Amino acid sequence: MARRKQLYEGKAKILYEGPEPGTVVQYFKDDATAFNNQKKGTITGKGVLNNRISEYLMTRLGEIGVPTHFIRRLNMREQLVKEVEIIPIEVVVRNVAAGSLSKKFAIPEGTPLPRSIIEFYYKNDELGDPMVSEEHITAFNWADPLEIDEIMAMSLRVNDYLSGLFLGVQLRLVDFKLEFGRYYDEEEEEPRIVLADEISPDNCRLWDMATGEKLDKDRFRRDLGGVEEAYQEVARRLGILPESGPRDVQGPSTLQ
Ligand SMILES: Nc1ncnc2c1ncn2[C@@H]1O[C@H](COP(=O)(O)OP(=O)(O)O)[C@@H](O)[C@H]1O
Ligand SMILES: [Mg+2]
Repeated sequence: MARRKQLYEGKAKILYEGPEPGTVVQYFKDDATAFNNQKKGTITGKGVLNNRISEYLMTRLGEIGVPTHFIRRLNMREQLVKEVEIIPIEVVVRNVAAGSLSKKFAIPEGTPLPRSIIEFYYKNDELGDPMVSEEHITAFNWADPLEIDEIMAMSLRVNDYLSGLFLGVQLRLVDFKLEFGRYYDEEEEEPRIVLADEISPDNCRLWDMATGEKLDKDRFRRDLGGVEEAYQEVARRLGILPESGPRDVQGPSTLQ
């Protein structure tokens, strides 16, 4: 592939200039970080699996009318997406108490929440992604009230749809993080809010319905072992394990 301009290297992905204006290529790395970069490691084959899983989930969401940045998968580790102006907010939707919510409010992990809860975090690594309210978001002009309304409505729709989808493969969607962006279409005056970034076991908590086994990044965060296998199991249940088999998701040399 011709040399492309790298736009950004993040913790889990690299962004390259896309082949057409208004597009970018997301390259999924095997790098994993947790606790605001304090814990670092690699999960062999994670990039390949997350590329597939995110493709699958974004495509399904697109089919029910949720606007997403996803255009198409290019190869094992790359997907083409619409370039957006990322709204610097991480939207977390929770169905069951876990992680920071359990810690903050002393609610045992696994306690079902009386209703889904949406939380906002300011996306800023230096500040450790602090939790913010709608007031902060509008006061600091990260998004306007209409955009927040749209983001919340879309997040709940994504939650309902994905909860059902995962339920169908015996997984409980405990919580997840979403990012949104503004897509500037030449034809339209106002930008459109679209779902961006990725949806994968890196940013979802997924527990096996029968056993409660964790099949997500908590296996890495908490040194539970079997991290690669957990991501593979999620892909397998969704019916999207790369066809050429496990070899694809092992040797990095075969993946580039
Ligand atoms: N469609 C898009 N257009 C522009 N930027 C995007 C798009 N989708 C995701 N991003 C941004 O690209 C970066 C993806 O790389 P990642 O490794 O997740 O970064 P980070 O370490 O900042 O989380 C993120 O900062 C994310 O906000
Ligand atoms: Mg990220």
